[in-house]
Amino acid sequence: MLRTRFCEVFGVEHPIVQGGMQWVGRAELVSAVANAGALGFLTALTQPTPEDLAKEIARCRELTDRPFGVNLTILPSINPPPYAEYRDVIVESGVPVVETAGFNPAEHLPAFQGAGVKVLHKCTSVRHAVKAQELGVDCISIDGFECAGHPGEDDIPGLVLIPAAADRITIPMIASGGFGDARGLVAALALGADGINMGTRFVATRESQVHDNVKQRMVEATERDTDLIFRPLRNTARVARNAVSQEVVKILDAGGTFEDVRDLVAGVRGRTVLETGDLDLGIWTAGMVQGIIRDIPTVAELVTRIVTEARELISGRLAGVLN
Ligand SMILES: Cc1cc2nc3c(=O)[nH]c(=O)nc-3n(C[C@H](O)[C@H](O)[C@H](O)COP(=O)(O)O)c2cc1C
Repeated sequence: MLRTRFCEVFGVEHPIVQGGMQWVGRAELVSAVANAGALGFLTALTQPTPEDLAKEIARCRELTDRPFGVNLTILPSINPPPYAEYRDVIVESGVPVVETAGFNPAEHLPAFQGAGVKVLHKCTSVRHAVKAQELGVDCISIDGFECAGHPGEDDIPGLVLIPAAADRITIPMIASGGFGDARGLVAALALGADGINMGTRFVATRESQVHDNVKQRMVEATERDTDLIFRPLRNTARVARNAVSQEVVKILDAGGTFEDVRDLVAGVRGRTVLETGDLDLGIWTAGMVQGIIRDIPTVAELVTRIVTEARELISGRLAGVLN
C-alpha cells in the first residue's frame, strides 16, 4: 500500500485519479477504476442531457459500491450547456466528489459545499490553484504542459509546475499531465504532490470504451506524436497528431480564423474517431505520455502495477541511494 492524505480525504485505497475525459469517462471505465481502489470521474458533458447523467451515475453505481465522482468541465462557449442543471444532478445524485475544470468554479461552489460534495479543482497554473484554494475547494489537481487536452498558455512542465504549486498549496494536491507509471507516481510524491491524475494512460486500458485502433495507436505513438492546436487563438489543446491536427495547425499558423477550421475540429468528428477507430477522421485528445505507454492492461492490472512498482522503487532503488 501507498497511502497519502489524498486517500484519507477521499476514502480511496490508492493515490491515483482518473480525470474526466470527454466521450471516454463512462460507467465501464469509472467503475473499473473505483473497483481497483482509485478515484474515477464520469464526464458530465459526455451525457447529452442532465437526465442522462443521472442515469449514467445510477449505471456506475450498479457496477461498483466504491466511491467515484463526476467531472464538470466549464468552457467558454457560444451556446453553453446547462451547467447549473448538470451541477444539480451531481448534487442530487449524492456522489461524494466533483472534479471541476476549465474555469473558476466559484459560481458552483456554494451548491456543492452546501451538499457536502467535495471539490477537486483541476487547473494549469499556480495562480489559479492558489485562487481555488482561497475559494475553499478540497483538493487541487495541477495539470502540467505535458497533459492531454487544455494545458493553458503558460507552457510550464510538471517538473517546475508541481513543486512551484506545492510551495503555495496546503490542501491535498494531485499532480497531472504526463503520468503513466510508477516512476511518475514516485516523482510526483517527491515533487510535493499527494498523488497523480492520469487521462491518456487510462484510455489505453481494456475497460475504456474506445475503439482498439485508438488504444493501439497510443501504444505505437512516441512522446513526439501530439500537436498543440488553437495556439494562435489562445485556447491551446494538446491532441494526437494526425492529418487533421496538422492541417489545423497549418491553417491557424497562416493567419486563419476559427471559422476556417470549424469543420475540421467539430466534436462529432473526434467522437467518431473514438467509436470507429478511423484515426484521421477528426481531432482526438492524447498526451505526450503516449511515449511510455506500451500495453493495454485492465484497469486493475494498471493500478496494481503502478502502486506495487512505486513501493519497490522507493524501498529499492531510492533507498539504495542512501547507502
Ligand atoms: C480523451 C481525453 C479527453 C479529455 N477530456 C477532458 C474533459 O472533458 N474535461 C477535462 O477536464 N479534462 C479532459 N481531459 C484531460 C484529463 O482529464 C487529464 O487532465 C489529462 O489527460 C492529464 O494528462 P495525461 O493525459 O498526460 O495523463 C481529457 C483527456 C483525454 C485523454
